[in-house]
Parts: sequence; structure tokens; C-alpha cells
Amino acid sequence: MAKQEDLFKNVVSHAKEYGFIFPSSEVYDGLSAVYDYAQNGVELKNNIRQYWWKAMVQMHENIVGLDAAILMHPTTWKASGHVDAFNDPLIDNKDSKKRYRADVLIEDYAEKLNQKAEKEIEKARARYGEAFNEQEFVTTNARVMEYKSRNREILERMGRSLGNNDLEDVKALIEELEIADPETGSRNWTDVKQFNLMFGTKLGASADNAMDLYLRPETAQGIFVNFLNVQKSGRMKVPFGIAQTGKAFRNEIVARQFIFRMREFEQMEMQFFVRPGEEMKWYDYWKQTRLNWHLSLGLGVTNYRFHDHEKLAHYANAAADIEFNFPFGFKELEGIHSRTDFDLKAHEQYSGRKLQYFDPELNENYVPYVVETSVGLDRMFLAVFSTSLKEETLEDGSTRTVLALPSVLAPTKAAVLPLIKRDGLPELAQKIVDDLKWDFNMAYDEKDAVGRRYRRQDALGTPFCITVDHQTLEDQTVTIRHRDSMKQDRVAIASLRQIIDSEVNMRHWLMKM
Ligand code: GAP
Repeated sequence: MAKQEDLFKNVVSHAKEYGFIFPSSEVYDGLSAVYDYAQNGVELKNNIRQYWWKAMVQMHENIVGLDAAILMHPTTWKASGHVDAFNDPLIDNKDSKKRYRADVLIEDYAEKLNQKAEKEIEKARARYGEAFNEQEFVTTNARVMEYKSRNREILERMGRSLGNNDLEDVKALIEELEIADPETGSRNWTDVKQFNLMFGTKLGASADNAMDLYLRPETAQGIFVNFLNVQKSGRMKVPFGIAQTGKAFRNEIVARQFIFRMREFEQMEMQFFVRPGEEMKWYDYWKQTRLNWHLSLGLGVTNYRFHDHEKLAHYANAAADIEFNFPFGFKELEGIHSRTDFDLKAHEQYSGRKLQYFDPELNENYVPYVVETSVGLDRMFLAVFSTSLKEETLEDGSTRTVLALPSVLAPTKAAVLPLIKRDGLPELAQKIVDDLKWDFNMAYDEKDAVGRRYRRQDALGTPFCITVDHQTLEDQTVTIRHRDSMKQDRVAIASLRQIIDSEVNMRHWLMKM
């Protein structure tokens, strides 16, 4: 655990030191759970967004994009259920005065049981080696079965209690499990209360006639209210999707863990409109397709798992998370939700307008069902960044810090370094930058010894360093150094574009899906 905490601390300090993420308004000591993306962070974030947009919008002929406003008519949030039901159950510890999400306390407890089961499985795997049959072990070993069934029972009971808004039972469960304040160990809890997460604001200059608005807590509603506009103007045929990326705001009770849980964050969402009755087929399709998108980045198959929801949101008839192995354990990265016709029907009811589709093949009107995929852009950033940050021991015993980002996402694709600051080498290096910057985000660096410059680019995640030396003046060749292998090749300047492209082009990465 200590190791994991250290890793996480490294992630936060590396992000700051190398210009990826700063605390918001830091000169005033920051603002809780709000962050700014710095010069390298914004490039990485934009690249993640583009990787998603390419896969979801441009590679699907039946999915189009949208950029709806953050401010929406307030009735939107009444219709969507957010005014009445977008709550988290909170509980205070009377001794420490700390506030927690009651469901998270219970989930963390259940996860520990899960981890105990995983430990037993790992021990058995080490003992039996090749002959180990995990399936058989999990279904016959008494201890593993006990841990797993306790985990299930606890989550099912919590799901039922929250579903019935039985907050007394949620508290009773915390007490029965003897869950203590994680920071102080105290078990002196208040009752569980519901807390609405939406941020309010006002539209209009005068206090008398200002209109109460909300900052959107999800981007999805901007898609629902535009469903018919897009369908008609784009002549879209069901099944089709509308995708958008953008800011969302939530007044989170417990906002910790860096950019994992923020009060202002970005979502990348897609609503896929389908025929009623076909939603489960599409739900399964999108679960797998989204997992494949994550896997295409090469962060490791074992870093992902599905978690099917016990407690369904007010709009869903099925829901699953793609969880990622963050430095603090497996947590939700993306949600895939079968939202039924809840949202469109609710907007029909509250607006008095029909939001229906005429299906020419069935010759009938209906309100489509919706399957949603929703991933947090900041969480994707954290997943990619934390998994890529490595401390390596080299053959000569020295160490290096390398940010081994998937090169398609790297903020800078190549840095050009003149070996020394004279003899025309800087001018030639700058010329190479000027030529390649039409295609790739490039950097020029002439400060410090070349070895130190390599290390700096490693820490920034730059996949290639191109060094210009005296031989370059004679034969128009340079050395190109690969970030991960540190291997250096002598190549012609004329071949650089193709070499870089063959590693960073989205095509090669997305074709792995
Ligand atoms: N439209 C559905 C929806 O908003 P959600 O599970 O509440 O569903 C979707 O959010 C995704 O948004 C999550 O999987 C997570 O990646 C991201 N997300 C949610 N709350 C967040 C927060 N406070 N900070 C950062 N990302 C968040």
C-alpha cells in the first residue's frame, strides 16, 4: 500500500514539475478539487479527446458530433430527474467531523473482501504453477467462496437500500460491518442524508427577475434535447448516435485523489438511439467496443475489468463500469448505461413536444431507447499518465524517469536537439522543426548536455529525439533516439516524417481495436 501511495505522490508531483497539471488559482492556495491543465497537459488531454472523437464519431458513419451549451433551460434538470434524484448519500463522523459518501465506505469494505479472495487465488496460482485451474479453484475453495459471497451480499443489500431510499438501513449496514472512519478509526456516525450534487447559478442582471439555473452535471442532456434537431437535419436513421465532449460540474462531497474526482471536469459521451427492444444487444456491443478502445492504447489487459451495477441510476435498466487499476486500486473509468426511453419521454412530458422517430422500415413512430457510453476525460488522463510513469534502472545501474505514454497521445512527438550551439547546427535543427511541425507537435531544445536533454524529453513522454551533429552538415543524416528502447539509429532527414508517422499515426493504434 505504501508503495501505491508513493506512486500516486510521484504522479502528482511529476504532473506539476513537468507542466502537465497545476492546482487551480494556486497563488491563492488553490481551490479544492479544481485543477488547471498546463502546457503539456493540455496537449495530452486534447490528444485523448481526439483519439476518442476519431474512434467514436469519424469512424462511425451513423454517429455525429454536437457541442451543446453548458447552461440549459432549468426544466431540463427537472425532467431528467437530477433535481430530485441526483444525490449522494453522505454520512458524517461525529468525532472527526469528516464527511464521507456512505456508499463509498461500504464499497471500499466490500472491495477489501474481493482483494482477499484475489490474494488467495494468487497464492494458489504460485503454488500449483501451470496446473492451476482458476475456474475450479474459485468455485471450490471455501475461503474464496466465502469472501466472494460476502462481497456480493453486502453490495446487493446496499443496492436494495439505496434503491428504496432506505437510508436507515444504509447506516445499519455501516454499523453492522463495523466500518470505521478511514482517517481516525472512530465509529461514531451520524445518520445518512441525501445531498444534491448540482451547482446552482443565476441568469439575468437584476435580483428580482433572475432565473435559477444549474451548471450541467452531465453532457448527456444537451444531446437528448437536440435529438430531433440532429435526426431531422442530419437525416439520421435509427440506430444512430450523437457524441459530444465538454465540461460538467458536480459539487462532490468527497473530492480527493487528484483529478480522479473533480468539481469541474470533462466528459466524452455518446448517446446511441435504438429501436425499443434492441437495447440489450447494443448495450453488449458498446460494452465490448469501448473496452476494445481502451485496450488499443496498450496499457495492459489486466488493468481493466467490468463492474456490473447493483444500484442502478434512476434512468437505467442495465449499467456497467469499465474499471481501471489506478494507483489507488480499481475504480470507475467509464460507464455504459442502457437508459431506456426515460430521458426522451421525460423531455416530451415536460416540454409538451413530441420527441419521436418515424421508422420507415416498421412504418411506425416511437420514442427510441438509448444506450450511453460516458467516459471522464480527466480520468482517462489519470489512467494514461499514472500507468506510463516509470522509474527504470538501466544496465549501468543508473536510473531514469520515463513517461512511456502511448506515442499516439504524447504531447510532443519529437524533439530536435543540436549537439552544440554553434557551427550552424542550431539553424539546421530549427529547419527540421519548421518542416516537421506541419505534421507533428515538435520541440526544439539546445540547453544543457545532450544526455540531460534526452532525460528531460523522456520525462515529458516525447517518443523521439532527433540529434543534429557535424555529420548532418555533410550527409543530411541525423540520429533518431527511441524513448522506450533508448536505441539510436542514423537516418536520413528525408525519412524522418515517415518514421515518426509510422509510430504516432492514430490509424495504426485504432486498427488494433
Ligand atoms: N451521463 C452519464 C453520467 O454522467 P456518470 O457515471 O455519473 O454517468 C460518467 O459519469 C463518467 O464521468 C464517469 O465514468 C467518470 O469517468 C466521469 N466522472 C464522473 N464524475 C466525475 C468527477 N467528479 N470528476 C471526474 N470525472 C468524473
